[in-house]
Amino acid sequence: MEQPLYDRYQRKINYLRLSVTDRCNFRCVYCMPAEGIDQCNHQQILSYETFYSIAETAVALGIEKIRLTGGEPLIRKGILPFMQRLNDLDGLKQLVVTTNGFNLLQTAKPLCDLGIHYLNVSLDSLKADRFARITRIGTLKPVWDGLILADSLAIPLKVNMVVMRGINDDEIADFAALTLKYNWSVRFIEYMPNADGSKHERGLSADEIYQRINSLYPLEKISHRQLAGPATNYRIKGAKGTIGIISALSCSFCSSCNRLRVSSTGILRNCLFSDQETDLKPYLDNNDLTGLKEAIIANVDQKPEHHTVSWDKSELPKLHMSKIGG
Ligand code: 5AD
Ligand code: SF4
Repeated sequence: MEQPLYDRYQRKINYLRLSVTDRCNFRCVYCMPAEGIDQCNHQQILSYETFYSIAETAVALGIEKIRLTGGEPLIRKGILPFMQRLNDLDGLKQLVVTTNGFNLLQTAKPLCDLGIHYLNVSLDSLKADRFARITRIGTLKPVWDGLILADSLAIPLKVNMVVMRGINDDEIADFAALTLKYNWSVRFIEYMPNADGSKHERGLSADEIYQRINSLYPLEKISHRQLAGPATNYRIKGAKGTIGIISALSCSFCSSCNRLRVSSTGILRNCLFSDQETDLKPYLDNNDLTGLKEAIIANVDQKPEHHTVSWDKSELPKLHMSKIGG
């Protein structure tokens, strides 16, 4: 590694999210419209070789953690050998995946064998009919069975629930109670307004989520680990697992943001809500690795101090989450 990568606000940038596909086998209401989104054609989607060049360059620049996102990353063909190559990168400390869990029954064992650091599994309801409504075309059983399998293989698990008023907020306590039984990190995520014009009123603030849990199960705050994400973490006294609350909007975590994102077509973004994009494809097409490195450094240098999306404003991020990987 050369020198750690810092932006102009002295934030150390050491976490890269690669959206390896914009395709998904679910259509979650908070992520996509019912008909899905315009998918990029195959030529536009970066090859694994190209993603590998980006990862290698980024790790050489100081990236220590890589997360694969989508769409649904585990449905892209050849994802497991690709992950194996990434995991062998010298300097990479953590390789993790965000998945909807649909094919965990098939992939948990190989993921465990290749040494995945942990898995983030999206799960927004523990009720089968509701799960089907939220994901529009998903089914709960393979996801739940996949989680239990991954758990039995001792893969550390983070379960992510996007909390939506009137849709699944009555299950907050049931999700919190999962930590009494399982050694999981159950994380409650503030709903973010999406490019489909969905309603801000749908969201519960981190504070409201905290109050709801704390009134039933008094929470103890626990400390933040290195390379950890933006969640504030708690534990119910005596519980095996932990509870995280992610306040994407109400209490901005921008001041400690350490991440960069690359879309499935090679667009580098320094902030989920920013328009500042760098197209990495030309450098990759020309095999210009010096140019690629400089482009990443320049994009980091432009990382905004904080985003401007809030509960009161109607500014919506331009991209669907499935394009940029949440
Ligand atoms: N609000 C909050 N989180 C979202 N994600 C996607 N869309 C949204 C949204 N509108 C995140 C969720 C989900 C992951 C795939 O991306 O955490 O589990
Ligand atoms: Fe697919 Fe994840 Fe979006 Fe749901 S949230 S539609 S599982 S990418």
